[in-house]
Amino acid sequence: MHGANPHGELGNPGFGGIKLFAGSSHPQLAQEIAAHLGLKLSGRDSLRFPNENIFWRLHESVRGQDVFLIQTMSSPVSDNIMELLIAIDCLRRDSASRITVVMPYMAYARSDKKDQPRVPITARLMADMIVTAGADRYITVDLHAGQIQGFFSIPGDEITGFHILSDYFAEKNLRDAVIVTADLGFAKRGRNFAAKLHHPMAFVEKRRVGNTAQSEALTVIGDVDGCDVIIVDDEISTGGSITNTVQAVKNHGARDVYVSATHAVLVGPAIERLRDLPIKEIVTTNTLPATPERMLPNLKYLSVGPLLGEVISRVHLGRSVGEMFNE
Ligand code: R5P
Repeated sequence: MHGANPHGELGNPGFGGIKLFAGSSHPQLAQEIAAHLGLKLSGRDSLRFPNENIFWRLHESVRGQDVFLIQTMSSPVSDNIMELLIAIDCLRRDSASRITVVMPYMAYARSDKKDQPRVPITARLMADMIVTAGADRYITVDLHAGQIQGFFSIPGDEITGFHILSDYFAEKNLRDAVIVTADLGFAKRGRNFAAKLHHPMAFVEKRRVGNTAQSEALTVIGDVDGCDVIIVDDEISTGGSITNTVQAVKNHGARDVYVSATHAVLVGPAIERLRDLPIKEIVTTNTLPATPERMLPNLKYLSVGPLLGEVISRVHLGRSVGEMFNE
């Protein structure tokens, strides 16, 4: 760990000592981050009153401290968002000198534009609420679209699961593999994957039906016949896109099919759908908790804990984050 003082604490005179707090959403990831930093999570009470109101109380003062608050937006989504906002307010009112929200998965990120009449832009609302509550910075992983960074009026670091996922596939040394993306919005990130692994790319054209979660895969653009395929996407939610994409590449002669996605949202019929598909391996990260009901024998979670820990350390010490990725 960089910049630790003789007491094993990170020190940054600009914002005080570092303190880590975690909401209720993902205790395991919070522990992994803390372990990477060689720190303990600070104590707090997080209570639900009988009327469902949430209450936070810190076990120690954060006055003048550089606080990192870890909370992902997993199920129950609204509760976890509300807890995040309340925790920020609590830290602000206890005079933290800086509050950085660490939200590995940002909910509502798909609601990022008015793509039909009379709809909200909830991703913007989320950013506004986080800033209004009192956050000074944010750290997140693979936003649905990079432009969402612009919804925040505070500085942030959007890091990517790309290196963790692509390193995993690089070790497999697949021959004759093709990187396939089912989302043209993801084409650039798909291309990075293809370039790193030295594989060609193909696309599955997808149309989403209105504002429903349904999508229909149409055509495969590129050649997958006789090749292994790695389908890359930012998230698997209901599994609809993956189902269509797997079927499309299989219909076009794909051999073994792998899936790589940063966020395993896995809601509704997702697990049943994935279980029934001819997929050799689904590789994801633990930006969302790997609960027992969200496990499958061919579903592998890779930890983003060390990566987030390192980013937190660098933000605290005022060191470059891009440097980690040779940027
Ligand atoms: C869509 O724009 C995203 O890249 C994912 O393909 C989508 O969020 C996955 O959702 P689902 O699993 O419900 O099809």
